[in-house]
Amino acid sequence: MSEKVYLYPVWIRFWHWTNALMCLLLIITGISMQYSDPAYPMIRFDWSVNIHNITGIILALSYIFFLIGNMLTPNGKHYIFRRGILKNIIAQAKYYAFGIFKGENPPFPITVESKFNPLQKLSYIVIMHITIPTVAISGVMLLFPEIIANDFFGSRALHATDIFHVMMGFIVSLFLVVHLYFCTIGHTPISNFKGMFNGYHEKH
Ligand code: HEM
Repeated sequence: MSEKVYLYPVWIRFWHWTNALMCLLLIITGISMQYSDPAYPMIRFDWSVNIHNITGIILALSYIFFLIGNMLTPNGKHYIFRRGILKNIIAQAKYYAFGIFKGENPPFPITVESKFNPLQKLSYIVIMHITIPTVAISGVMLLFPEIIANDFFGSRALHATDIFHVMMGFIVSLFLVVHLYFCTIGHTPISNFKGMFNGYHEKH
């Protein structure tokens, strides 16, 4: 029997799966608007626009929920860098590159006090404190173009915001692929996924 620790309270699970679903819908509709031939769209263009706008607003609201949740509960402490983070990131990267294949124990065992390993912490802090807020802010700016299209900035600002928004969207997509891969490295390949449903992380 593996040891279990309760790491994901209900509000985190609710936020996480809302956020995951919205990101998936945003990525699919975003790709459809960006790439498909207007004559043969992957998803009808007007549907993509509407779904993208609605899910984008839900994502932005769920992000505010996540921020407030992290401010009001101990979960916020996991999203702060501590001393020695660089050294710890290198140790974790070495474990993923070599140690894991030799059957070594993880250098930073998961505990209630420290539920992310240093690489997870880095990726979650970057995605949740930089990428998601900037993709949401640039999305709101594109939804209300009059906010940026004034006499000084003009249409070039709109174009730059658009490029920035698409770039951030790609980073979210890239994060998702890497995130899913690392989530399979658990006690069993599916135990981390089960944990995000029942709240309990199964230790190695
Ligand atoms: C189908 C999509 C997704 C699946 C199946 C999934 C799966 C998981 C799983 C299993 C965990 C718990 C293991 C761990 O702590 O690493 C987790 C945690 C997490 N995921 Fe995802 N994820 C998805 C999408 C996303 C997206 C799109 C984001 C952000 C843009 C995200 C951000 C996070 C964060 C920040 C945590 C840690 C939450 C906390 O405990 O505070 N996930 N995810």
